[in-house]
Amino acid sequence: MNIDILLGLQWGDEGKGKIVDALSPVYDVIARFQGGPNAGHTLEFNNVKHVLHLIPSGIFHPAILNVIGNGVVIDPAVFKKEIDKLGPPVSELTKRLAISNKANLILPSHRILDAAYESGKGNSKIGSTLKGIGPAYTDKTSRNGLRAGDIFKKDFRKLYNEHLENHLAILKNYDFKFDLKEHENEWFEGIEMLRKFSISNTEYLVNELAGKGKRILAEGAQGTMLDVDFGSYPFVTSSNTISAGACTGLGISPKLIGNIFGIFKAYCTRVGCGPFPTELHDETGSDLRNIGHEFGSTTGRPRRCGWLDLPAMKYSIMINGITRLFMTKADVMSGFKAIKICTEYKINGKICNELPFDIDSVIEPVYTELQGWETDIKDKREFDDLPIALKGYIEFIEAQTSVPVTMVSVGPDRKEIIFRN
Ligand code: GDP
Ligand code: IMO
Ligand code: MG
Repeated sequence: MNIDILLGLQWGDEGKGKIVDALSPVYDVIARFQGGPNAGHTLEFNNVKHVLHLIPSGIFHPAILNVIGNGVVIDPAVFKKEIDKLGPPVSELTKRLAISNKANLILPSHRILDAAYESGKGNSKIGSTLKGIGPAYTDKTSRNGLRAGDIFKKDFRKLYNEHLENHLAILKNYDFKFDLKEHENEWFEGIEMLRKFSISNTEYLVNELAGKGKRILAEGAQGTMLDVDFGSYPFVTSSNTISAGACTGLGISPKLIGNIFGIFKAYCTRVGCGPFPTELHDETGSDLRNIGHEFGSTTGRPRRCGWLDLPAMKYSIMINGITRLFMTKADVMSGFKAIKICTEYKINGKICNELPFDIDSVIEPVYTELQGWETDIKDKREFDDLPIALKGYIEFIEAQTSVPVTMVSVGPDRKEIIFRN
């Protein structure tokens, strides 16, 4: 049982990148299991901020092997840009990163299809990141995908052209203008970059390492409320973001899973469209956005902000089998006089503790108000030193969820973290 999973319990951007980076020294392997360049995982150390999209968040630790699993969809152009920006030379990075030959590729035409579908939807658009995620996963499940292992085939260019023709035929149905050439050039440069890396049956590698007792952390992307099966469908992403996704996205047995860490912000945010029961449209919402710098790491879009939603979080805990909770961004609420927390939903005047199937249901959050904390907590490193009101907030969450909060993040930097036994 030496594979742990860390994943988001809300609508993404819970701080996964920061925490994976901070936990990396106790692991030998960090493995991404789903999603693609829709993710934006931010890490900060030595006063420098890095945003990772495809590359696992253990990449800055030289001794760690990072794996991009079969469940991920890779855009070679984004991959190259990310590698070029990281800092260490490519010859060093090829030692730190292994890629599954079964990971599906995002083609330039997938990105165009994503944009065409979104514009065709008008007001009911998903608010996708426009990175081609939906169309790439669609081709995967309809058995039309190109995979990372295909790039070594002699007739790769021919295969690419066949896929492109299919996409161009679909695009004829849309009144949508696009420029393919620009995307294509950088995509093929990305393919050249990918060819420098080890692209293999990483399921063997991961199982072999687990068998040798190496410690592995599976890094989730997006969040449980964006899961294609259990999120607020259709306003979701196209992969299984939940713990079960780590098994299918890496090729590992559930028997190997140890801890499942659920990470949540002390409040909630959502970027893109879809229901958000505790969303705040008032000054408190804009305070959370401004103080918490809540703007998308991938698209720069302002994030919608609201109070912590316990019915949604309890659902996420249940679906994932969370064993430990990690809380981030409590420092953003320092100075708030009172803090609200949604404990129940009211739908059509009736208390309801389940997430409704119908996303058009009007959910009225039932709030409990707790006292805020005045003190700045960014320099705190011991749990006992946290303000009493914040400890009360954490205890309230633990009592409601029956899961211990064992880590509290108090700022974006790697060092701004409190571990609690
Ligand atoms: P991810 O997608 O889950 O990795 O999260 P993002 O990187 O998209 O968004 C989290 C944002 O919050 C990033 O800008 C982080 O640098 C920042 N962050 C992470 N943890 C904390 C924290 O505890 N406090 C504050 N103030 N910022 C944090
Ligand atoms: P990380 O890993 C927040 C959202 C998009 C949109 C929906 C579908 O950084 O937490 P997609 O491009 O996947 O088809 O978009 O999902 N979304 C995210 N929101 N964080 C993310 O990733 C997200 N990845 C996708 O905004 O609402
Ligand atoms: Mg993010």
